[in-house]
This record gives sequence, C-alpha cells and structure tokens, in this order.
Amino acid sequence: MKPIVSITNVFPEAGLEVLRPHCELRLNDSGLPPNHEKLKLMAEVSNAMITYLSDKIDANVIDVGKNLKVISNYAAGFNNVDYNHAAGKKIWVTNTPGVLHETTADLTWAMMLASARCIVPADRFTREGKFCGWEAKLFLGHDIYGKTLGIIGCGEIGQAVARRALGFGMRVLYYQRTPLDKSIERSLNLKYVSFKELIKQSDFITLHLPLNDDSRYLFGHNEFRSMKTTAVFINAARGKIVDDAALLEAVKNKEIASAALDVYENEPEIVEGLLSEENILILPHIGSASYETRDRMAVLVANNVLDALDGKKPRSAVN
Ligand code: GLV
Ligand code: GLV
Repeated sequence: MKPIVSITNVFPEAGLEVLRPHCELRLNDSGLPPNHEKLKLMAEVSNAMITYLSDKIDANVIDVGKNLKVISNYAAGFNNVDYNHAAGKKIWVTNTPGVLHETTADLTWAMMLASARCIVPADRFTREGKFCGWEAKLFLGHDIYGKTLGIIGCGEIGQAVARRALGFGMRVLYYQRTPLDKSIERSLNLKYVSFKELIKQSDFITLHLPLNDDSRYLFGHNEFRSMKTTAVFINAARGKIVDDAALLEAVKNKEIASAALDVYENEPEIVEGLLSEENILILPHIGSASYETRDRMAVLVANNVLDALDGKKPRSAVN
C-alpha cells in the first residue's frame, strides 16, 4: 500500500509529479481552505500532510495524526504549525528555505519603488482620465538612490534585498539579534546597528524576520514615532510583527511618509481604514508568487515528504 499524502489546497503540478509514483494523493480541489475539523480528518488518515501557511496546525490536529510522519509546509515561514508539539510526537515539520528569497526580495523592491514613486495612485489617476499634461508637482515622490535602507532580519531574504541595494547606491543598515559574519557584511556593504539606531536613521525600513515571541508586535506607536517623517515602511514578512492600526495612524498623522504591506495582522482581514489610505500600498501576500518559485517550492515540499516517508531526516526540517 502506498503512503497517503493529503494536500490541504491547490498545489503545483511540478510537486504532484514528484509524489505521484510513490504516494496516494488526497487532494482538496474544492477551492476552499479546510477548516479545523477538516484538517483533523486529513491528519487522521494521512502519513504526510502538505499545508498552506493559512492552515493552523495546532496540537489538536497533530494529536489525531497517529500515522503522520511529516507536515510539509508550502512556505518559508512555519509559524502556523505547532512544531514543538509535532517534535514531541516525532512528526517532522518542514519549510521551503533557499528557493524563494530572490523572488521575495524582488517583490520587496517592487514595494519600495512603488511606494517611493506613488506608482499605484499615479496609475489610478491616469486611468481615471485625470492626466491633463505634465505638471511640476504631479505625484512627487522620494529618491531611492543614495538613501539609507534599514533591514530588520538579515537572513537569506534580507541579504537578497541588500544585494539589490548595491545597484541603487544605498547605505544599508541591518539589525538582528546576532550579527552576520564580517565577510558577508563586507560583500553586501552592510552595517550592523542597534534596533533603535536603525529605525531612527533609515529612509526605508523593511522587515525580513520570522514571526515568533521576540518579533510579535515589534512595531507599534513608539517605533513609528521614532522614525523619520519621510520614512517608508515595508512589511513582506508576517503581519503580526506590526500593529497595523498604529501604522495606519502614523501614516495618517504624517509621522512617516508611506508604507507598503504584503501581509496583515489578521489576514485575510484588513484593519479598518487601511483600504482608503492612499499612502499605504496593499498587496495580497504575494512575496513568493512567481511561476518559477512556486514550482521550486512545490518540488522541495514534495521531496521533504519523500525524505520523511523514507525514514530519513527531511532536507529542510525545522524541528
Ligand atoms: C510566505 O509568506 C512564506 O512564508 O513562504
Ligand atoms: C516571507 O514571506 C518570509 O517568510 O519572510
């Protein structure tokens, strides 16, 4: 009998192809994400589960997975899975490092450029037939070239963002608990500073750290008030690192210039008032959304499943 692999939601063919010869696949093609009950039913009958970052895999789901060997999360982040509880039950939890950082860095830069140069409001304006010819003060933005970029969390995504900043002649500061090797700092022209210094000195502040007890609500009223009034704030990491209502207030009160978000505190819900704020760019969590990267992620997710079903430590185990 082939092992049963349940996939909670739509999944690229590239990953299904890797699994098909070895596994019995149970697909959810209802177009709806599974609720907690459905997740439990899947866990109960499966040897492996492939999960989305929107699936909350808590202790209750894990406990019914009597034959479960691996929970292979189709994401770099894994804050949606109780990985410590899973470890206690000898169930591997895996993620997708090494395959989506360049793509997420590209989106981060798209967000920076769009915010700095009012790209989305300018597009809307033109579409609405309001363009009546060149004007000296039409959609003035801010330069990126020569400015200071502050990166909070300088792992593979943060470093890919920093590498792109070399071409824009930026000064790049970073903060995380443990500084990087000097050789990496030198090659990316990175300067390690304290969290306080980073938010005070940076023109662009971008988050690339995981959500955990240290990062939860790292940004609130006080942090936004410490920034430059011209600062642009970017979050393509995890929503709960930021108090979104405080961010909205900071932009409305011109404590900072603008923001761009790809993730939300309680996504897919969006804090009231955010949708009508022109100076906040809002995207639907598309950091890793390129054809190439989603295929690479799916193949890695599938190989993590096969590793675990073979009795091996999966190549990107997190627990
Ligand atoms: C996306 O947010 C991911 O963690 O891959
Ligand atoms: C980006 O999506 C991340 O997981 O940091």
